[in-house]
Amino acid sequence: MILVKTEKELKSSLVSSNKNRRLGLVPTMGALHKGHLSLVKRALSENDTVVVSIFVNPTQFDNKEDLDKYPQTLDADMGLLRQISNDLIVFAPAVDEVYKKEVRSKSYDFQGLDKVMEGAFREGHFDGVGTIIETLLKLVAPDRAYFGEKDFQQLQIIKKLVQIQKIPVAIVGCPIVRETSGLAMSSRNERLSKTTRNKASFIFKVLRTAKKKFGTKSANYVSDWVQGQFKEQADLELEYIMITDVETLSPVKRKQQNRKYRAFVAVYADGVRLVDNIALN
Ligand code: PAJ
Repeated sequence: MILVKTEKELKSSLVSSNKNRRLGLVPTMGALHKGHLSLVKRALSENDTVVVSIFVNPTQFDNKEDLDKYPQTLDADMGLLRQISNDLIVFAPAVDEVYKKEVRSKSYDFQGLDKVMEGAFREGHFDGVGTIIETLLKLVAPDRAYFGEKDFQQLQIIKKLVQIQKIPVAIVGCPIVRETSGLAMSSRNERLSKTTRNKASFIFKVLRTAKKKFGTKSANYVSDWVQGQFKEQADLELEYIMITDVETLSPVKRKQQNRKYRAFVAVYADGVRLVDNIALN
């Protein structure tokens, strides 16, 4: 296991690995859990060398308090990674190592993918994500980079990013890892009380039933049904439910046989913002 903190150290750790070897990258913001680790395991199974980046990217936070509260747990993260493999390269740079001149996002045209859901509710978020991922992909130059479907909109935006910036890398999407209760794993779950964490398992229950209903009912009907379900839950506040086409992320008007759809929600549980989604067909 190698921990590198600068671009220079990263480059020299990569030079020492053979040129023909397959290289994988797993970008994270740390505070690792089983969801992150599933990405690392997948990357290890498909590559000879794997870089895990740990960097809390300031430009993707629209809220300073959220950034300040973000857990930084490098020692624990290293411990978890070591349990999986001793062969990883962990890249954990400081902010000024990544943002040399100023801490600022580039601005991208993601062709509307960034205008809905997380993009609509978190101003500038996806320009920040695009900026850090473009930087990391250029620094590491992996063959494959791994992202979770937990942040499905982010995954689609990164696929668009590498297409518009012509970055030669395969973007691999990985399934959502859930707690036994069904709650999608997230570093934010740690901020929930035990009672609220139990209640939050309702989110996935509703999504699963929404999927069943989507077999026979319209998208509008299912969205209204989901809204109704959350109105009855005093401790869970639904910010949005959207049912979209997986490629365009635009809302479904009329279902078409050959298209794939997904339902997305953001929910406040005791002030903690949780997101989840499910494939509908
Ligand atoms: P972070 O929230 O740390 O997540 C890192 C990666 O882990 C993302 O691709 C995310 O989708 C995936 N992930 C998180 N929880 C998961 C779960 N329960 N199941 C499967 N995958 C899960 O997403 C970010 O960081 C940042 O935006 C980043 C891409 C690193 C850019 O800064």
